[in-house]
Amino acid sequence: MLKLKSYELRKKYLDFFKSKNHAIIQSASLMPENDPTVLFTTAGMHPLVPYLTGQKHPLGKRLADVQKCVRTGDIEEVGDATHCTFFEMLGNWSLGDYFKEEAISWSKEFLTEVLEIPLDKIAVSVFAGDSDCPKDTLSASIWEKQGIKKENIYYLPKKNNWWGPAGQTGPCGPDTEIFIDTGKGKCCKDCSPACDCGKFVEIWNNVFMEYFKEADGSFSMLKQKNVDTGMGLERTVCILNGYSSVYETDLFAPVIALLCKLSDTEYGKDESRDRAVRIIADHIRTAVFLLGDEKGITPSNTDQGYVLRRLIRRAIRFCRQLNLESGTIEKIALLYIDIYKDTYKELSDNKDKIISELNTEESKFESALQQGIKELEKVLSFSKDGVLNGKTAFRLYDTFGFPLEMTEEICREKGFKVDREGYKKAEKEHQEKSKAGSEQKFKGGLIDHQKETTNLHTATHLMLASIRKLLGDDIFQKGSNITAERLRFDFNFPRPLTAEEISEIENEVNKAIKDNVEITCEEMSVAEAKKKGALGVFESKYGEKVKVYTIGKYSKEICGGPHAARTGELGRFKIIKEQSSSAGVRRIKAVLITEENK
Ligand code: ALA
Repeated sequence: MLKLKSYELRKKYLDFFKSKNHAIIQSASLMPENDPTVLFTTAGMHPLVPYLTGQKHPLGKRLADVQKCVRTGDIEEVGDATHCTFFEMLGNWSLGDYFKEEAISWSKEFLTEVLEIPLDKIAVSVFAGDSDCPKDTLSASIWEKQGIKKENIYYLPKKNNWWGPAGQTGPCGPDTEIFIDTGKGKCCKDCSPACDCGKFVEIWNNVFMEYFKEADGSFSMLKQKNVDTGMGLERTVCILNGYSSVYETDLFAPVIALLCKLSDTEYGKDESRDRAVRIIADHIRTAVFLLGDEKGITPSNTDQGYVLRRLIRRAIRFCRQLNLESGTIEKIALLYIDIYKDTYKELSDNKDKIISELNTEESKFESALQQGIKELEKVLSFSKDGVLNGKTAFRLYDTFGFPLEMTEEICREKGFKVDREGYKKAEKEHQEKSKAGSEQKFKGGLIDHQKETTNLHTATHLMLASIRKLLGDDIFQKGSNITAERLRFDFNFPRPLTAEEISEIENEVNKAIKDNVEITCEEMSVAEAKKKGALGVFESKYGEKVKVYTIGKYSKEICGGPHAARTGELGRFKIIKEQSSSAGVRRIKAVLITEENK
């Protein structure tokens, strides 16, 4: 086998397919176009879907490329030696041109003649057949003709040997997968490439795309028979060099070395430290590619931006575990930009953006950590049995990014235990909820929205106080509705507000925000609250004791909460609409503009 570096493998692959009359195309963006069912480009074929379904490609019927891909199905599971959230896929395509015969013989030629992999180290699988599609005896016989022994050809069912679609509908088909037999003994008498015992390692997949999966789950025939192949760059470099993990390849080695040096870790000595190093290396690489993409995104609380945020924050958490100080992720990012400078120029072009976004996210996460610690201390002060309940521990994780281990450590210092089982249960419930919405779409952002609604709630109090200050003490709340995006507030007033009045209200609220005053909460009787001048509209609903929230000199209201800790957390307040709600009642819609939603 040739011990190739990543750039050598990219070049050999593209040169080989150029010699077979393929046009070489550029990697597309990591943000898929026209497919709302997936967040990222997950395979080389993804950007080519229109051409696989019949549209003419300007460069012809034979294409090859190296495509940037991101797969983040289970972020929490990343950390082993083979799964990366970002990877490059080498691929060649026939758009209604050649089919099984050529595809298989070229695969064999490239592997054995270019990469010099001995034929007897190769095992393959082919589709076993079912009611949707017949058994692929043709592929098996082509492999045999190519010299693969019968006992190294495995028939496997749809679960293993069917690929696609990339989203919920689209082109797909039976495939033939190519494995390197590591030479380990079979784990059992039925051992096959479907087994994850480690005997077989997949390096290339040839998909015979002649089917289209419809929204109702049925399959129809495509207009043309296509070939779609994919070979993982990092994994293949790893196999060729006999490495035990992709982290030893030239794409990762300098980063692993730097992380180990900075954290005083001797790689290979302590699995939990090695894992932390790998997670940081993996996640920061993916973050660099997402931020630096030609259609780059930034961290946020929804969809792609939320995945990016979680990757960065998870990396930072593991940095902390290794006692790596802030600023480490910038160093790692710069190293990646350098490693990829000749292949993905967009990273160098967007260097400033990549670095500043990473640093901003790091400082935001730091303040979330501080807030979380406050929250944790508050909850513990109410705990009577010396145990922090699992739900709260999970909320600390999900809202503030607190790893369970960290929560446990803080609790231990204070003489508390954490209900681990309850945590796992809450985590499971959350995962099920996340998965339920859409199989592939990553929907973890919902809980984080708590912060937005809490802040808008505090803004509502400030706004009511400002309205009363400007327009009179006889104004009261008539209704309120808050979502993560905006507040909606009704109050009694006989005419539309003028533009001046609107901006006066905004200014007054923003002044209170700028003041960054603390929001305090006290419990007292309704009578006492009234005596103190607290506003309260739904008095009859309250029990004996009520909570009174005070925002410095600005506002005092009876309210159930929750509220922000300080007004400075709110962002900039802006009224986006003022209209009539009903006779004598006006309605205002307003938002908070923050760094995150700008
Ligand atoms: N699209 C196929 C895969 O990702 C080649 O494995």
